[in-house]
Amino acid sequence: MTGKAYLVGAGPGRADLITVRGLSVLRQADAVLYDRLIAASLLDEAPPHAERIFVGKRPGCHAFRQDGITETLVRLVRSGLQVVRLKGGDPGVFAHLAEEAAALAAAGLPFEIVPGVSSALAVPLHAGIPLTWRGVASAFTVVSGHEVTPHGCSGISWALLAASPTLVVLMALERLAQVCNYLIAAGRNPETPAALISRGASADQRVLRATLATLPARQQAAQLPPPAVLVVGEVAALADRLAWYDPAQFSTGPMLWDEL
Ligand SMILES: C[S@@+](CC[C@H](N)C(=O)[O-])C[C@H]1O[C@@H](n2cnc3c(N)ncnc32)[C@H](O)[C@@H]1O
Repeated sequence: MTGKAYLVGAGPGRADLITVRGLSVLRQADAVLYDRLIAASLLDEAPPHAERIFVGKRPGCHAFRQDGITETLVRLVRSGLQVVRLKGGDPGVFAHLAEEAAALAAAGLPFEIVPGVSSALAVPLHAGIPLTWRGVASAFTVVSGHEVTPHGCSGISWALLAASPTLVVLMALERLAQVCNYLIAAGRNPETPAALISRGASADQRVLRATLATLPARQQAAQLPPPAVLVVGEVAALADRLAWYDPAQFSTGPMLWDEL
């Protein structure tokens, strides 16, 4: 039997945010390579015989190097297995999809990409924050907080980022104060609404609503844990009016970020 890889987005938080297609291929997998940003119960969806291999990164400790993950994926598919590579959120957003798919393509192995619901969109929504708002914000920018420099973030200047109606920062916690300070220095109004959403769409979701100027001190006091998404822009003010998600009402079960 020919092996095949499925690069699947698990969605953020709640296990039931995975797509129907994602769940279908997971239920037929012979092996699952998974990260830590997923609901533990998703692993129960794979058949009992399926090998479950953790290839995620712990903060400060990279359990697996990226080339090790890619090699494992290629080896398992080449041996004839149906392999699901399960990634939090969407597999095409800050998730090394290009490297893994390119290695499969170079090895002549078949693969399918199954989109997922990205935390960039779904985590703000679970705090009542849509990224666009008619007449107020009609564009958004998503950047990585790991790519902050004095000149910009993810290769975009602070001046351009400060001008984006809605700015979403993933991996936002480590350099939260720098991001807020650079945006203000680049001309963004310090009173701009900002929200930090930690462990979104899970039973542990917490939301901090503040302004660009006050958010770092609020987080310093609150110490919301990772993973977290930062939203800067007028849309963040909607969190006060449109809050709908009551974490206590949603039993998401354990998340792998708890266990590792
Ligand atoms: C390496 S990126 C992966 C993004 C993922 N591929 C996606 O589309 O959501 C990891 C970052 O995603 C964000 N993230 C993922 N799941 C989250 C969640 N449930 N709550 C808050 N942030 C989350 C955090 O900013 C985290 O640092």
